Amino acid sequence: MSIVNLINHTNGSMMPEYYKKLAEEDMKERIRRIKKKYGEKLFIPGHHYQKDEVIQFADATGDSLQLAQVAQQNKKAEYIVFCGVHFMAETADMLTAKEQVVVLPDMRAGCSMADMANMRQTNRAWEELTKRFGDTIIPLTYVNSTAEIKAFTGRNGGAAVTSSNAKHILTWALTQKERILFLPDQHLGRNTAYDLGIPLSRMAVWDPIEEELLYDGDLQDVKVILWKGHCSVHEKFTVSNIKNVKERDPGINVIVHPECTHEVVMLSDFSGSTKKIIDTISKAEPGSKWAIGTEMNLVQRIIKRHPDKQIESLNPDMCPCLTMNRIDLPHLLWSLEQIDKGEPAGVIKVEEAVAKDAVASLNRMLGIS
Ligand code: 13P
Ligand code: SF4
Repeated sequence: MSIVNLINHTNGSMMPEYYKKLAEEDMKERIRRIKKKYGEKLFIPGHHYQKDEVIQFADATGDSLQLAQVAQQNKKAEYIVFCGVHFMAETADMLTAKEQVVVLPDMRAGCSMADMANMRQTNRAWEELTKRFGDTIIPLTYVNSTAEIKAFTGRNGGAAVTSSNAKHILTWALTQKERILFLPDQHLGRNTAYDLGIPLSRMAVWDPIEEELLYDGDLQDVKVILWKGHCSVHEKFTVSNIKNVKERDPGINVIVHPECTHEVVMLSDFSGSTKKIIDTISKAEPGSKWAIGTEMNLVQRIIKRHPDKQIESLNPDMCPCLTMNRIDLPHLLWSLEQIDKGEPAGVIKVEEAVAKDAVASLNRMLGIS
């Protein structure tokens, strides 16, 4: 569901203004009280891109794969208050039992990348691509996509993918069919396929707006079809950013998220999921120097955690992911108090028919991870 649709579906379940005026300590105290009252009946997963003010209350933090796994394993929580974005809460809803209620503290916390592939566009693409390539394509979707797109991949023998298992899943997919359609992030698709030894010359791009396949060579050579979508946060890291930090400081290590462009990933020393970025820097030598190309809340947290290392954002003018940032202390408190009142707001419930195929796609991914 797009961000505009999300807002239209909030049915008045928007946080009252007065929460924004509360004192920080008051909010923290009220959150602590509710967490204590509910104990294991309440579970708060938090993605690494969330603000510190929210992360301090998370029962589990992680990258997209870890958060999907912890949601699936949690059998005790009656309420899961998901501090992340909409597609993550949808995934948690689909991987948990029917009676477990998943809540997103602000329904406006969508993901612009997930909005770059809708079902109308995907059906058109599939029609055109299967006309050209016949039954030779397996669809894969980055988890940063709607439940409908995950269901489409599930129905067609494909799977979901996260940045930490993309290599595994693409390897598996190529044992199933001759070629892959990768939605919606062209960069993760391109970077992963290249890592597996597939040359750029064998990758085509599907433009869902123009409804055209961008490819110069012989169609029979196409191994991967990349959906023309991207993350607007990660596209802001550039080749000049890398050249600048390396020129200033040749000893600096550059680590970026694979949602960055291929040119940026190629020039970097390391790339990987948010978990890989955190782990790599934790294990690095004291005194080592790092420039990180990922979302700003996480970069700032890593900087604070490692005063013994010299760490900076690869792009000094970076800002946080605006939709991730919608979840803040007032929204977390409001969401918990609505649960406590017996009127949970921002409940995420994927309809049964969609969930059935989307879960097939997610389970294939989790089985291979
Ligand atoms: P990971 O935490 O899985 O690396 O994903 C990053 C991201 O962009 C989530 O939206
Ligand atoms: Fe979506 Fe990019 Fe924000 Fe991740 S960082 S939630 S991919 S917009």
